[in-house]
Amino acid sequence: MRSTMNSDPLPSIANACARARQIVVVTGAGISAESGLSTFRGPRDALWEKYDPMQLATPEAFERDPELVTRWYDWRRREGLNARPNAGHVALAAIERIVMNRGARFTLLTQNVDRLHHRAGSRNVHELHGSIHVWRCTSTGRELEPPAHPFAEFPPRSPFDPRGLLRPAVVWFGEALSPSALDVARGAMETGDVFFSIGTSSVVFPAAGFVEHAIQRGGTTVELNPNETPISGRVTHSIREAAGAWLPRLASALA
Ligand code: APR
Repeated sequence: MRSTMNSDPLPSIANACARARQIVVVTGAGISAESGLSTFRGPRDALWEKYDPMQLATPEAFERDPELVTRWYDWRRREGLNARPNAGHVALAAIERIVMNRGARFTLLTQNVDRLHHRAGSRNVHELHGSIHVWRCTSTGRELEPPAHPFAEFPPRSPFDPRGLLRPAVVWFGEALSPSALDVARGAMETGDVFFSIGTSSVVFPAAGFVEHAIQRGGTTVELNPNETPISGRVTHSIREAAGAWLPRLASALA
């Protein structure tokens, strides 16, 4: 049953969180929008206008034009380093501490690759799509975290094997998610009793399917997104607000 549009769902959501044995949160690019990082399907700043992320975030694009793809990811990586966690990230980390201090569990599954949840202090974070701050040798599979300055050459050659290149250790369209991340997500979806979908358009699977599964199971499901998505009509509470505005209110209500 969805909350009526004119009542404030915060008290009942806070109440569900206070009683929950496990809270599961799925986040997408929208939670980093207030840190100045472009989302994938929303308005994009000049540099992204030329490139469609759906065209560049693929193994085929890397094969076809490794220079363009690695320049784009190197730019996104440094944008991420220059960005700061916003009030939404910080509030989620505070909510995790409150929930864990009372002996309940808190699992954060993010589609984001910017590591802003980690920098905000979140602990139990699972990066479903990898991290833009880790790059992998195409020949040996060995990984490294590049320094903050831009790569000296594009595509960057691998230090592990002269025949190899470095690519971002992110999950591209058509690539499999890490089995460990999937195991954690599936386990959380089975045992969680309150679920949040925050800042995601809910169109990319398997993340989009996680909350659907929670809805089928009958848990309390909450969407936080200024815009409508395919799950808006099916969740318990669909909140049309920015993450950075609403999450601090929930953190205060639970403190
Ligand atoms: N607070 C909450 N949500 C917001 C905010 C905000 N301040 N600003 C924008 N949003 C919402 C938008 O309304 C949109 O629904 O965030 C969502 C971002 O959607 P996408 O750009 O599709 O990003 P995401 O859902 O994370 O994409 C999923 O697709 O391209 C792949 O691998 C990529 O991880 C990404 C996946």
